[in-house]
Amino acid sequence: MTKNIKLYVEKDYDALSKRAALIFAKQVNAAPLAAFGFATGGTPVGMYEELKKMRARNEIYLDQITAFNLDEYYPIENTNTQSYAYFMAENLFDEVNLPKEKRNIPNGDSSNPTAECVAYDEKINRCGGIEMQILGLGTNGHIGFNEPAEFFSGATVHVELAESTIQSNARFFDDEKDVPRHAITMGIRTILMAKRILLLVSGEAKADILRDALIGPITPNVPASALQLHRDVIVIADEAAAKHL
Ligand code: GLP
Repeated sequence: MTKNIKLYVEKDYDALSKRAALIFAKQVNAAPLAAFGFATGGTPVGMYEELKKMRARNEIYLDQITAFNLDEYYPIENTNTQSYAYFMAENLFDEVNLPKEKRNIPNGDSSNPTAECVAYDEKINRCGGIEMQILGLGTNGHIGFNEPAEFFSGATVHVELAESTIQSNARFFDDEKDVPRHAITMGIRTILMAKRILLLVSGEAKADILRDALIGPITPNVPASALQLHRDVIVIADEAAAKHL
């Protein structure tokens, strides 16, 4: 693995979540007014639980950061309980008192998704860029909703979800038919512009794709392989996910 990627292998999901929260908290406490990038999916939930506990013990102050989420389904209303806006409020933002005006999540209800994408990148830039971006890894190698493709995406973009993502995310919905077929996601360039990246990966089901992402060829067929081009990536995996590294 190249030197720009620092790998932590933790015993299990619990240890992974604790390690991730500690690293993230250190970064926030060093730059409490900066912008930070958040992710959804099952993987960061344990880390968010830890951050809430740390906030209760006054070990981290998230009240003054600006948050930018990676992605949002499209179309979806932000009051929909399946929206990532709702997910973030429930799993982290409400409990750590992050003011609503500091929560940026692509608007899945916009009538003009293309303009929404442009405005999202502009806002990240106006806030001075992202200090640390949290990422999960899709089983198909996606980061955000950047699906395997012929080309790497650049800026924030309105995309169609891959069939594999629809199937994988169906576990969060009553029926697979309810999974939105599109999304707005930070593009690969937007993600790579973050100063530091914190990638969390848990479980044996991700072991093959994690190996492909970190030590396989850099290819848009494995969108996460673009992380090899970034100068400061921290990967926290549990033993099951790291078994091929
Ligand atoms: C979703 C999100 C991704 C996330 C992925 C993995 O599709 N758009 O940002 O990384 O799921 O989810 P999980 O952590 O539940 O495996």
